[in-house]
Amino acid sequence: MRIAVTRKIPEAGLALLAEEAEVLVWPKSLPPNRDELIAFAAGADGLLTLLTERVDGEVLDALPTVRAVSNMAVGYDNIDVEAATTRGVVVCITPDVLTETTADFTFALLLAVARRVKPAADAVLRGEWKTWEPLGFLGQDVYGATLGIVGMGRIGQAVARRARGFAMTILYTDHERRLELEEELGARFVNLEQLVRESDVVSLHVPLTSETRQMIGAEQLRLMKRSAILINTARGGVIDTEALADALESGTIWAAGLDVTDPEPLPPDHRLLRLPNVLVTPHIASASEATRARMARLAAENLLAALRGERPPRSLNWEAARGRAHP
Ligand code: DGY
Repeated sequence: MRIAVTRKIPEAGLALLAEEAEVLVWPKSLPPNRDELIAFAAGADGLLTLLTERVDGEVLDALPTVRAVSNMAVGYDNIDVEAATTRGVVVCITPDVLTETTADFTFALLLAVARRVKPAADAVLRGEWKTWEPLGFLGQDVYGATLGIVGMGRIGQAVARRARGFAMTILYTDHERRLELEEELGARFVNLEQLVRESDVVSLHVPLTSETRQMIGAEQLRLMKRSAILINTARGGVIDTEALADALESGTIWAAGLDVTDPEPLPPDHRLLRLPNVLVTPHIASASEATRARMARLAAENLLAALRGERPPRSLNWEAARGRAHP
């Protein structure tokens, strides 16, 4: 078996793959572009991809030997699952193993933005801090604030559990009410309009789909409190980037913490990066040593199982793709 891995991933995953297959690892630090991916993976039975590679029907047609694609991510907006299924290609992802680490980082970003950690620490580094200041770097309290969770899936729920420790009032919106969770999490179901109006903090935890693309735009931002904070650890495309930059510049909302952006990365001269009320991090919400190792291992287990013809631990289309499997 030949497996193409589109970047160097934690050893835990590579070692597992190497037990059963010949493993080719893309050697550069930047991801392969479309043509490079096709040339690199030619003849492979399986692909282990990252969220930086677009895998669609055209790519799969150019790689007819590929029988399975294992994405080392829970999000899979980079993969055309329908195109894969019709070609009998199994698609796998890595849910669960990153939930708690991502929820931790959501709070890291929220606390950093609310309490202005970056501008304050930068002022110290520049030698500008001379004394304790009664009016210096005043932020917003997180304790006791109202948190609006958009998308009460695994990560949204893990964020809600943390929010209880901060005595936050929890609102949530989702495509359906999650009655079984409401009592456990002390969360109240509202629609998106109510959520953005009433929340002190809006935190996004939805996958990027045609329904969620730019679901936070000028209209939603206008409804938010002027003191509100927007946190995004989901996908950049869920927010209309230019509308957000306008809202932050004009004081329509107070601040934002973005671990993901659209485009990703933002061009270095993008106006969002110059605003003092924005903290942008490089898509690191799942980036703990243990979690990235777990993701790599699960991605490898998924891929090997699919290539052996066994049900992978976490596949999106095992049954359907198997029905159309390669001869
Ligand atoms: C994912 O898994 O989708 C994250 O964005 C990266 O860990």
